[in-house]
Amino acid sequence: MKTKEFRLRRLRGRDGLRKLVRETRLSVSSLIFPIFVEEGDNIYNEIKAMPGQFRYSIDNLPRILDRLIAAGIRSIMLFGIPKEKDEVGSQAYSENGIIQEAIRYIKREYPELYIITDVCLSEYTSHGHCGILKGEEVDNDPSVDLIAKSALSHVKAGADMVAPSDMMDHRVGAIREVFDKSGFENIPIMAYSAKYSSSFYGPFREAAGSAPAFGNRKTYQMDYHNRREGLQEGKLDILEGADILMVKPALAYLDLISDFRREFDHPLCAYSVSGEYSMIKAAAAANYMNEKELIAETAVSIFRAGADMLLTYYAIEIAELIKDGIIG
Ligand code: PBG
Repeated sequence: MKTKEFRLRRLRGRDGLRKLVRETRLSVSSLIFPIFVEEGDNIYNEIKAMPGQFRYSIDNLPRILDRLIAAGIRSIMLFGIPKEKDEVGSQAYSENGIIQEAIRYIKREYPELYIITDVCLSEYTSHGHCGILKGEEVDNDPSVDLIAKSALSHVKAGADMVAPSDMMDHRVGAIREVFDKSGFENIPIMAYSAKYSSSFYGPFREAAGSAPAFGNRKTYQMDYHNRREGLQEGKLDILEGADILMVKPALAYLDLISDFRREFDHPLCAYSVSGEYSMIKAAAAANYMNEKELIAETAVSIFRAGADMLLTYYAIEIAELIKDGIIG
């Protein structure tokens, strides 16, 4: 066979044709937008390291929720920022905590939105770790009890799905058990399965005031040298009852997204984290590269690697790019 017969450029010749033969399709319905809800009134504070992203008090939530609805986005991930933090993260599982109140408000005012909640203690503990401490160690099993308790308080307030991000061992199983015992057997769990200890969370920690007061998260979040270990995390989360798996961050971990797609049949979410957003914002602000083009190319790369859904601070911009026929 003569390779001369093959002309791969033939299918690249016209815009309409290129769109016809695209291998990766995106839709607005696969986008999830993260929202920081802060306890208090009249809060609408831009996050310094994330230009264009804000912390909202409940009364200001319509500012963002109306924009999401107009963009066609129907899924959100909520993060709570309480006024008071303590050693055991009490506000994470208090019936009237900021996250529980926000869920009730959104369910009442925006019933068309699908609410996923991040379940973790880090935004609620005075020391900023994702569990409770024994000395300077994060103590796995007692932390899991509080994480399951937080998850239960979220669904009691009306959350549609929970997403544990703490990386304690056995937390998915513990949440499943508590849900099943409490009549919430139909509430799905999205597990942050391969969640790496990453510098890309820096801007989020500024936003949530959740940087650890000492040490780091390397004893529970994964070491970025490891790929097979990510699959082990995924496998265990499935055995414990996870309904959806997540890889986080996204861009520096496309290999993991691809591995998860190949190895598991579960729906797969990728989280393009705060630092990925900030990096593009900074490059665009310096006029080094074009923001829209970077958003388009990076979002497509995550779906091309195998993600079914994408949690991203750029959800509105991506929805516009899809609507304008630039990607998807
Ligand atoms: C933990 C949590 C973090 C993020 C999501 N859930 C921070 C962390 O693990 O330190 C980071 C998300 C982002 O950077 O956008 N509560």
